[in-house]
Amino acid sequence: MIILGAGPAGLVLGNLLRAAGVDCVVLERSTAASVRTRARAGFLAANTVRILDRHGLADGLHRTGRPHSVCEFRTEDGAFRLDYGNLGRRERHTVYPQQELVTDLLARYLDTGGRIRFETEAVAVLDADSTRPSVTVRGPDGRPGRWRGRYVAGCDGRHGAARRSLPPGAVRRHHHDHGISWLGLLAEAPPSLDAVGYAVHGRGFAGHMARTADITRYYLQCPRGTAPDAWSDDRIWAELELRMRGPLHRGAFVQRTVVDLESDVLEPLRYGRLLLAGDAASLLSPSAAKGANLAVLEAEILARALADDLLYGDSEGLDAYSERCLAHIRRAQRFSQWMIRLLHDIPSAPTRRPCLETLRTSRAEQDWFAEQYVGV
Ligand code: APR
Repeated sequence: MIILGAGPAGLVLGNLLRAAGVDCVVLERSTAASVRTRARAGFLAANTVRILDRHGLADGLHRTGRPHSVCEFRTEDGAFRLDYGNLGRRERHTVYPQQELVTDLLARYLDTGGRIRFETEAVAVLDADSTRPSVTVRGPDGRPGRWRGRYVAGCDGRHGAARRSLPPGAVRRHHHDHGISWLGLLAEAPPSLDAVGYAVHGRGFAGHMARTADITRYYLQCPRGTAPDAWSDDRIWAELELRMRGPLHRGAFVQRTVVDLESDVLEPLRYGRLLLAGDAASLLSPSAAKGANLAVLEAEILARALADDLLYGDSEGLDAYSERCLAHIRRAQRFSQWMIRLLHDIPSAPTRRPCLETLRTSRAEQDWFAEQYVGV
């Protein structure tokens, strides 16, 4: 069994397959150090924590992860807070930086004898429609190689080899560009609010998400095509403070990326013996922070299906894999789109203010929001 990519999807899958007794190898393009330090998402849904708990993969997040259950909206009509941990299903997030989760998953995988090849880039998945697929790779020294297995799991993200290797017409691609871009920032600064902050302003959206006591993620809506380093630190802080309507704890930005808000979902998530999970299967805009949570959920579903097939000859789970995951993806996608309309002025859908007003005043809407916001 070959797994492409050592992100949350690939490493949860690798751990679960090993625990089930399935022989596998993970092929990862980057170095071990970069996999362990790459800062990405950080809000784990309650169901994600339950999955990790179920498989004994949650020790680290229980040790240092912090429960989170409040978000604050700041708009031209005033500010309001939602204590979503006491609404809907009364579930909370656990804030645990993704690189720490990945570090834990990798440690467990290696401790239990898992095989992984770093600096090994998958180039192409071949013969996925046969019973013996293979993966061509470029190793650390640039040397070409080839791995064969009974299945290939494409957990190598949106620009990985799995997606690239799908023959034209093999799967449908549902792509939507929301036409909105965010400058994603990681600041070496303590959080400025005790809540997730969503600020809606005539100049655009700004977001605040705590990561640790010393690191905070910010998002700043920017014109499409903005270069990550186009704005000075001072200009960014001034713009954040203007849109967030208050002073912030400033610090150096240690990461800047520009994210175009898009959704890009494949259907089905399978081509022969190539199965897709995580960002390789579906990329959603970060507006509702669903990506890492979907990746973990899909990896659990896939691990079970693969183990049933490989160990007991039962292919039912694999046959149902794509539809099961797509049901979750579509719900997450619908909520992400709703969040985009809540947080931005979209000329073709000017519903931001009524949506926010309903969210502020309607308990039913708040319960729905809480359920969708923490759910996957
Ligand atoms: N060959 C081998 N590895 C590859 C290749 C390739 N051709 N292309 C990409 N990779 C690796 C990347 O280096 C990365 O480590 O695949 C891994 C994919 O990991 P993620 O991008 O974290 O994707 P995934 O596991 O699907 O998790 C999805 O987590 O980081 C968040 O925002 C992300 O929400 C998304 C979620």
